[in-house]
Amino acid sequence: MSKKALYIGLISGTSIDAVDAVLVDLAPPSPALIATHSHPIKGRLRAAIMKLCSGDVIKLQELGATHIELGEVFAQAGLNLLDIAKIDAAEVVAIGSHGQTVWHEPDGDKPFTLQIGDANTIAQLTGITTVADFRGRDIAAGGQGAPLAPLLHHHRFGSAHASRAVINIGGISNITFLRPKNSAIAFDSGPGNVLMDGWTAKHKGLNFDENGCWAREGKTHKELLAILQQDAYFEKTIPKSTGRELFNSAWLEAKLKSLNESVKPVDVQATLAELTISSLVNALETHGGVEEIFVCGGGAHNQTLMEGLKRALAPRRVSTTEALGIHPDWVEAIAFAWIAKQTMDGRALDTSGYTGAKAPAVLGAIYQR
Ligand SMILES: Nc1ncnc2c1ncn2[C@@H]1O[C@H](COP(=O)(O)OP(=O)(O)O)[C@@H](O)[C@H]1O
Ligand SMILES: [Mg+2]
Repeated sequence: MSKKALYIGLISGTSIDAVDAVLVDLAPPSPALIATHSHPIKGRLRAAIMKLCSGDVIKLQELGATHIELGEVFAQAGLNLLDIAKIDAAEVVAIGSHGQTVWHEPDGDKPFTLQIGDANTIAQLTGITTVADFRGRDIAAGGQGAPLAPLLHHHRFGSAHASRAVINIGGISNITFLRPKNSAIAFDSGPGNVLMDGWTAKHKGLNFDENGCWAREGKTHKELLAILQQDAYFEKTIPKSTGRELFNSAWLEAKLKSLNESVKPVDVQATLAELTISSLVNALETHGGVEEIFVCGGGAHNQTLMEGLKRALAPRRVSTTEALGIHPDWVEAIAFAWIAKQTMDGRALDTSGYTGAKAPAVLGAIYQR
């Protein structure tokens, strides 16, 4: 039996719903999932993060305090995970901590992306070497800094025979095209859950639309959908990546205003679900030839999204990554554990097909235990 290589992956994505924590054995041949933990991000902290993401003027002190508090929460997520797995910190090689993106601006004069959740704090509180700040180096190498999860999709989900697409529906959606004879490509297709989550919070006082039930009760408003689909992001050539800086409640309100007609909240929700579905399907068809589709991320639980994708992509089979052996909730956290191992091994990663980076780079910085 080969020697174990235990790694922890930690991430809070655009949805700011929870820190997803996984313990994996990354000894070849493939990631073996040992334990998982979803660590909630409580209301006050979530509100502080949302404020940072809003682009409002804030005091540096608020940024600093949230950076540290989030580092503590990430560390706690890791410690709880070890408790669940009954594994000692000393047995873990490293934590790969994505952190929390609070601003992503890959196309500005001075491109940058900012993830917070202090890795010094994580290393100190867990006693485990922590690898963090993966996206910054990719930007420095001329890339978008995102999406990075396709690195794992390529490693783990490719097939020698079939042309596959892996769709990650988080707050934002990204698609990875895995083709037997060509190199993989990936990009963010646009919104995943983020607009629906915001609309559900506003009209239902809930963080998300459980199973997509509310969206299912409504009817797609054709004119509104057309206005939403006209956003320039959807036409943009790859490489491309996006976030809450573009797709947010203000974006939606502006589009609703330009419609000059009032739409029932439930129909707006149905239309937002259709926007996510249609932007994914258009992206899939534009890059063509996909035979099998596998979905991961929280959107895999939204039956309205899943059924819409199945309808639009029939007769091709749409399933979750569970069909390939990894539960859809944990793919992204596993990706950051896997990338951290590449960092620890000093391996430069070629992200040119995903982020447009000009040269391979070792991603992430190492904070020693
Ligand atoms: N049972 C569910 N029904 C509908 N949507 C869900 C469900 N569970 C999770 N989600 C959606 O998935 C989102 C979280 O997905 P996740 O993959 O963690 O995204 P991110 O990477 O942006 O954090 C939630 O905000 C919610 O919109
Ligand atoms: Mg999440």
